[in-house]
Amino acid sequence: MPSLLGLEFHLTQRGNAQHTRYGWLRLTPAYSVHTVANLLKHYAMADDIVLDPFCGSGTTALACAERGLACISTDINPFLVWLARVKTRVYTNTDIEQFRHIAGEIIQHIESIPLDVIWLPEIHQREKWWDPEILHLLGALFYQINHLQHQYTEAVTDLLKIAFCRLVILHSHASFNHQSMSFKKLRQPGLFARTIDDLGLTWQSSVNDIVCSLRTPIITPPAIHLHDARQLTTLIPHNSISLVITSPPYPNRMSYIRELRPYMYWLGYLRNGRDAGELDWQAIGGTWGVATSYIGRWQIPSDHGLAYPSFAEIIQRIAQNSDLLARYVAKYFVDMQQHIAELYQITKKNARILYIIGNSRFYDVLVPTEQILASILQTAGFERIETIPLRKRTSKKELYEYIVSATKV
Ligand SMILES: C[S@@+](CC[C@H](N)C(=O)[O-])C[C@H]1O[C@@H](n2cnc3c(N)ncnc32)[C@H](O)[C@@H]1O
Repeated sequence: MPSLLGLEFHLTQRGNAQHTRYGWLRLTPAYSVHTVANLLKHYAMADDIVLDPFCGSGTTALACAERGLACISTDINPFLVWLARVKTRVYTNTDIEQFRHIAGEIIQHIESIPLDVIWLPEIHQREKWWDPEILHLLGALFYQINHLQHQYTEAVTDLLKIAFCRLVILHSHASFNHQSMSFKKLRQPGLFARTIDDLGLTWQSSVNDIVCSLRTPIITPPAIHLHDARQLTTLIPHNSISLVITSPPYPNRMSYIRELRPYMYWLGYLRNGRDAGELDWQAIGGTWGVATSYIGRWQIPSDHGLAYPSFAEIIQRIAQNSDLLARYVAKYFVDMQQHIAELYQITKKNARILYIIGNSRFYDVLVPTEQILASILQTAGFERIETIPLRKRTSKKELYEYIVSATKV
């Protein structure tokens, strides 16, 4: 484990234990709460307003909320905004008791829900995700959660949805490897839970984990907005943010939509593949479905203003292998530049900026994301820019994660 300024860093979601709110649902690119906690310990002051413009599953927001620090977070993905809000909400004892009680009730009734009222999501190749029996049990559970919405508070039904999302993944064929999600190749009957009893057990243990995790108090609830990090000035007043702790997308063709599809289809955030591609096109570094054809038609603006000395050469070298990938990488940095120009306006004097970011490689061309980001920060007006390596990302040569830090002087 690497250490920075004498601090220990656990860098990935693996550090986010399942029995805490951090571990409710897995998001592969989530950073570890320990990393955020260490950065807060080192840099945050009691009167700071912390910003995480790419909040994902809400790691920064939750770490701030548990420490009584004011935090504003944004994300472009409506499901992640919902998740981060639910994770950082204050729950009353009544909410928790009702959640526990009703969770126990609805699992008893799943077999009695008639097949013809059960709705199932239209996710592509649904049969690859779930066996038919499990799919219908999930459908019956979801039917009941939806029908409880009028009887219970949103807080209670949101907790039921979190427990449901955990089941959706635990009883699927999805397998999470290092970078992202794939399907398990072999059916291994007997090894994976398939029956109603198994489903009941995982439901109960998910509900218990969630109840247990709610014991840690939320001292200062954060403000979490569905908003584009390239347009921060339309949401946040000028000169108001004093600390930024965030992990933006990396230019590595990882699609958040791809991994989040099962949750997003079940909870109604996606209806079809077209929706998924359109949403990914809004995201920086998005590359799923139709987003890829849009990138193929995207033109780099002649006045892009990216000042990193070998930027044009890097793009040209990638283009020799793939014109599409060259446009993808160029668009990523044009978008990040737009975001950082906006960030400059809303940060106040002496604000500290901390980005956790990884470099990438396409063919034999290394994209030094941390250096290009440092150059963008400098062009925007930030000073005291440093890039500090945190860890090697994969067994592949040259792929690292960095902290890029800067100050508004
Ligand atoms: C690396 S993830 C952040 C993970 C987060 N630190 C966590 O612990 O879960 C990057 C996030 O940026 C979001 N994102 C991409 N483009 C965005 C944009 N234009 N505005 C706001 N958020 C965006 C993605 O939806 C994704 O959740």
